[in-house]
Amino acid sequence: MRSARALAQQAQQADDLFARGEDAPLRTVLLPSADLAAFRQAARALLDQDVEPARVSWHIADSACPDLFADSAVIDSSAGLQGGASPLRHPAATATATVTVPADFLALCESVILHRDPGRFGLLYRLLWRLQREPDLRHDPLDADRVLAGQMAQAVRRDMHKMKAFVRFRTVEDDQFRRRPEEGPLHVAWFEPEHHIVQAVAPFFARRFTQMRWVILTPEASVRSVSRIRNVKEAGAHEVVQAAEPTGPEGFPSLEFGPGAKREEAPPADAGEKLWLTYYQSIFNPARLKLRMMQQEMPRRYWKNLPEAQFISELSAAASARSQAMVAQSPTLPLRRIRAIEPTGEAAERQRADAMHGPASSAAAASSGPLRLDELKSATDRCRECPIGMAATQSVVGEGPAHARLMLVGEQPGDQEDLRGRPFVGPAGRLLDQAISQLGWKRDALYVTNAVKHFKYELRGKRRMHKTPTQQEAAACLHWLETEIALVKPKAAVALGATAARSLLGRHVAVMSERGQWFERSDGLRVLITLHPSALLRGDPAQREEAFAAWLSDLRHASAIAGAA
Ligand code: URA
Repeated sequence: MRSARALAQQAQQADDLFARGEDAPLRTVLLPSADLAAFRQAARALLDQDVEPARVSWHIADSACPDLFADSAVIDSSAGLQGGASPLRHPAATATATVTVPADFLALCESVILHRDPGRFGLLYRLLWRLQREPDLRHDPLDADRVLAGQMAQAVRRDMHKMKAFVRFRTVEDDQFRRRPEEGPLHVAWFEPEHHIVQAVAPFFARRFTQMRWVILTPEASVRSVSRIRNVKEAGAHEVVQAAEPTGPEGFPSLEFGPGAKREEAPPADAGEKLWLTYYQSIFNPARLKLRMMQQEMPRRYWKNLPEAQFISELSAAASARSQAMVAQSPTLPLRRIRAIEPTGEAAERQRADAMHGPASSAAAASSGPLRLDELKSATDRCRECPIGMAATQSVVGEGPAHARLMLVGEQPGDQEDLRGRPFVGPAGRLLDQAISQLGWKRDALYVTNAVKHFKYELRGKRRMHKTPTQQEAAACLHWLETEIALVKPKAAVALGATAARSLLGRHVAVMSERGQWFERSDGLRVLITLHPSALLRGDPAQREEAFAAWLSDLRHASAIAGAA
């Protein structure tokens, strides 16, 4: 970017050339920033004065002297130029013409303006000029200017998408955290965008990470979320939080922009990142490796700032051998099966009660019954109130302290849980453990269970593939979950996914729109809704980090009950 003095000199040269009758730009436009409003204002003034595109030279003011260019300005060379500042003429004063453009032109400008190519303003002004004079231009998608602008817009959109996907935060326990630990540590990320996109992408992070303090550093600009805690008053040695409300528009944290930073200012790898790397290695599926597609999604230029990229070459080199080993491996068939028994006595009664009055009635019966927590396993092992138990190895009941304050409820055991007889010990469990650790919770302080107690699957070749339980199957299992609730008496429960949410609340739950919210049941149990960890494992890998952080922020609502440190 050129300095104000250089621009003034350039304008002066333009004047001199013009005075000598030589063909030179007559106007130098200084925009305060890569900003659509400023461009529109200047472009309208130029159109109004009928200035041909070839006679305009566009520049963005040097950030070193922001005051001088606090507003967009057209340097009118005919007015002479002294000291660089005085001849600036505010274009709005003269803009009167009606400018008509196709509906999508503004959206195009919005993206193109963020492109790093210094020729972008000239290109947009040329298009604008031509659109006023060439009625056919709007119907000519192959016009060279339109094609170029379209390509620039696409490059910017792609860069924005990459920033959303590849920002990796590291946790820093800064001064503010030491003074007010309830606000959580600061999360700092380093990212190198190709274009001027930081301002445009920042609101995405504000919407995503509403509960987290974060800063994103880039070479050109930095942005941070401004604490959502307002009205902090001094009260003796302690600060009292008067209101913990979002301060930005639409209830999101507001943003503060600052100057660019250096890579060294970003913090080094932290414990959270080490966990993420272990997780990345463990979920890497060699049979699904499509290197070319992966590189298209995650181009090499981003790798240096992506901690997991260090493993890509190593894991992909070993992928073929690992997938062959997987194919050759024997199937994970059930090791033993519990003998089936027909529901009799209490179970049969419960089935009848459910059929007549709905599952709640049998749950009440179960909770008032003599069953103890340590008897649940053998009781559910023999349960055949739905067909799932017939094919499973064994039942998997909840695990955790008899009077845990917080209960986590998943859907049903998976392959590994079925084999080991313990909830959440497979890939979804590892992700859950990672979340628990990052939240500062202790897994052994939680009661972790499932809505359905047996593994439902279908055999595909040698593999047992998870199958979602039907509503009837989940309803048949409900009384076991209610028994656990009645015995453990948690202060609250977290529903991980739709099956758990339906079982706990007795209604359909739209997880994506109700996530992060508490609901209260008629028995007073509070239930927090969030995604099942498998939803994150199945999601777009490029969005995984971001989805994980959003998941953490849902779960964090239960931190006080979980007894987080
Ligand atoms: N998914 C669940 O819902 N529960 C488990 O225990 C494991 C995977």
